[in-house]
Amino acid sequence: MSLTAAPSTTATDTYIEANKERFLSELLDLLRIPSVSADPKYKADVARCAEAVSARLKEAGADKVEICPTKGHPIVYGEKIIDPKKPTVLVYGHYDVQPPDPLNLWDSPPFEPVIKDGLIYARGSADDKGQFFMHVKAFEAMMRSNALPCNVKFMIEGEEEVGSDNLGLFVKANKERLKADVVLISDTAMLANDVPSINTGLRGLSYLEVEVTGPNRDLHSGVYGGAVANPINTLCAMIASLHDADGRVNIPGFYDAVAELSAAERKALAEAPFNEAEWMKDLGINAVKGEKGYTTDERCTIRPTLDVNGIWGGYTGEGAKTVLPSKAFAKLSMRLVPDQKSDAITKLFTDHFKKIAPPYVKVEVRPHHGGEAAVTPIDSPAYQAASKAMEETFGKKPIPTRGGGSIPIVALFEAELGLKTVLFGFGLDSDNIHSPNEKYGVFNYFKGITTIPRFFRHYAELAQ
Ligand code: BES
Ligand code: MN
Ligand code: MN
Repeated sequence: MSLTAAPSTTATDTYIEANKERFLSELLDLLRIPSVSADPKYKADVARCAEAVSARLKEAGADKVEICPTKGHPIVYGEKIIDPKKPTVLVYGHYDVQPPDPLNLWDSPPFEPVIKDGLIYARGSADDKGQFFMHVKAFEAMMRSNALPCNVKFMIEGEEEVGSDNLGLFVKANKERLKADVVLISDTAMLANDVPSINTGLRGLSYLEVEVTGPNRDLHSGVYGGAVANPINTLCAMIASLHDADGRVNIPGFYDAVAELSAAERKALAEAPFNEAEWMKDLGINAVKGEKGYTTDERCTIRPTLDVNGIWGGYTGEGAKTVLPSKAFAKLSMRLVPDQKSDAITKLFTDHFKKIAPPYVKVEVRPHHGGEAAVTPIDSPAYQAASKAMEETFGKKPIPTRGGGSIPIVALFEAELGLKTVLFGFGLDSDNIHSPNEKYGVFNYFKGITTIPRFFRHYAELAQ
């Protein structure tokens, strides 16, 4: 019935309303599984999480559900083909989560979800279990109310937070199985619960680690200090030289490929509401800092960056130890924008970092993962369907925005499968993803579940 039903209340909505409590408790069950992909000690938990996702997909009504092993963590696949002539939506998400550390900063244990003031606190609640699971529940609701209007394929992976290397191989090897018309992903944020928005871009990434070696062993800092270069001091000076006085990344060639936005594009993005004072207050900072000539929002989305993610060396234990260490280390990441290429930027950094190394240290650079930036169109039937769906459930047309995070597989979907993506995210920047006390609104969870079937209905119509 609901193919022609009015957008106000459908049989699918009625089913969702009647099953709300179970939908919530099933999400909490999923959040109890510590599926941390980065740490091998959680390998069995990650596998258990894949089992749970596949069981939920089967119950919801998916066919050909399979846990596909990879060299790393498994990928869960499932599909429902109602008519090969109808369009197909490929839903992508990730069931793996970031490590919960530092544990002492959580108000409640990260894998014992609690709901407080309408917010679900747990690692993975927003990124991305709470968001991909909306699709599983929306699919279940469409199936049970006979309202699935087109084909759907699910690919839920377990290695997004560690770079999706094996997913890339899986996509290349399964082009026929993954054939679709559009990719739908809920793994991004909106501007606010009363200001719906849709991300139309993601940044790329180049992540690496550096090791700076001075003397061949740790030295007494009194006996040798002053005459032997301290590798931590040297590393700090090298890192400090990577930005100039205007906040630009000081690596020759870094900006060469950067796609500059037109004045009109920048003006359009600037129309999104943004209160800088409140933003600073929320973060507990008194001033912003970044590349000269760009707004805070632009610095976070359409401009490339370089950040130190971790730095260590020498003595960091209790009390004091007067040591001049042999080695210093840092992890660094660069967020990239179209049309910078991750491999090329990694090479630029490596060459530059070695070049600026003073003669009294040796430098090693080890690349980790990377990924390309992506932009998604707003004139496509899929974007229009997403926009209409949100307009119906929020009562406001969503604003297109650019996102600053990275989902490397999005560029690969385009390169390997020729597919564009709709970033149908229902999170908020304040969800504390990757941070202690990660949370996701119960409001957001159910808003997603009721909005997704509307996307399917509009998309099936518009894509015919
Ligand atoms: N869901 C995030 C990406 C994201 C968050 C995009 C908010 C836009 C807005 C994703 O899980 C993530 O954290 N990606 C990593 C990249 C990965 C290669 C480790 C990131 O952006 O750091
Ligand atoms: Mn994510
Ligand atoms: Mn993440």
